[in-house]
Amino acid sequence: IDDRAASPLETDRPTPFDPPVELRRRPPLSRLAYPDGHLGWVATGYSVTRAILADPRFSTRRELLHQPVGRERAHERPTPAEPGIFPHMDPPEHTRYRRLLSAHFGPRRVAELTPAIRRYTGQALDAMADGGSPADLVTAFAVPVPALVICELLGVPAEDRHAIQAATAVMNDLDSTPERAVEAVMSITGTVRGLIGRLRAGTVMGAEDGLLAHAVATGDLTDEELTNLGMVLLATGHLPTSSMLALGTFVLLTNPAERARLSADADGAGRAVEELLRYLSILQFDVRRTALADVEIDGQVIAAGETVVLALPVANRDPARFADPDALDLGRSSVGHLAFGHGVHQCLGQHLARAELRIALTALFGRFPDLRLAVAADEVPTRERSAVYGVDRLPVAWDSSPHR
Ligand code: HEM
Repeated sequence: IDDRAASPLETDRPTPFDPPVELRRRPPLSRLAYPDGHLGWVATGYSVTRAILADPRFSTRRELLHQPVGRERAHERPTPAEPGIFPHMDPPEHTRYRRLLSAHFGPRRVAELTPAIRRYTGQALDAMADGGSPADLVTAFAVPVPALVICELLGVPAEDRHAIQAATAVMNDLDSTPERAVEAVMSITGTVRGLIGRLRAGTVMGAEDGLLAHAVATGDLTDEELTNLGMVLLATGHLPTSSMLALGTFVLLTNPAERARLSADADGAGRAVEELLRYLSILQFDVRRTALADVEIDGQVIAAGETVVLALPVANRDPARFADPDALDLGRSSVGHLAFGHGVHQCLGQHLARAELRIALTALFGRFPDLRLAVAADEVPTRERSAVYGVDRLPVAWDSSPHR
């Protein structure tokens, strides 16, 4: 057994944009002590991580997974996923939901949503400019844009959006008390459930193109499945995208040379976004699997019942896969990065997320050419131990009046 077996996960990092030092020092697959007492694993090597994610002998069933972070809830054993919570299901149940959803997240649907992404981006930037310098980029921009986009995709009508946006902001705010966070989840569930009821009754106008209206019309899913599905998509579609927008802005504000490349090369924005995804890999402790059988990987045996956390930020800095991995280089090809995962659970919303990041980041820097941090970089609060890495606030300032 590795001599670090007894140590829990350490999260000290050299800069806000680098993975924890302790994880970088580990071999590609090593033992990790989980806060609930489980002796599990952490994968940090690119090829080991990819192999585990592609292997059907590993499960995402919630009741089998241990949590590598979050001491306070370590002793609560998770319950099996309710109907519709497909990220925590294995094939074939998982496959059924992915099939139902795939058309709503494909490149064609994302192209249809592009005008709406541009519109919401423009509105958020207008409001930020009107509010004046300085501003918190998280509340002004990074949270509202993805919240509105996912509402558009789901077909949440205007009258329900405010409630969802307000509750999502509470859920994303780590200063919220646990009671407020639970209230926010219940409020979103109530809104989604009410909407499903109105869709079934045919009393919602203007939501016909949305995913929820389509799903109701097919008649394949129960109200419980539909409500849970709506919740899953609101949650997964929102926090990672808002985290990437804020952290992506932060890293570009501290790296003027790369930022200038983004502004100069609109055609290269897609490539730049890919590199930001690789470099920042914000799903730091969220991607986990539990072995359903004893599996030999990289000369070690992960026993049935043992959980492995896939440390994507470290795998995406593996020098065996990416040359000079600690350099942010917006011009490189980062194809093959694992920031969206790999295998059957690979991110359903990846085309949408890419479009949002490309449109929102280029519009932000186009509109505020002299945008800068309003505080020292080490005063920006980061979410060290949370499953999705990011910043809670990003105070920014500007002098010139922004281009309209
Ligand atoms: C799954 C990352 C945006 C929906 C995943 C996974 C990763 C990921 C790594 C794999 C989880 C696993 O294997 O356990 C990201 C990042 C995003 C992003 C970095 C933003 C930059 C989105 C968006 C949506 C979305 C916009 C839209 C709804 C989902 C869903 C899953 C998923 C539903 C579960 C898929 C499944 O289990 O089959 N995401 N995601 N994500 N993502 Fe994303």
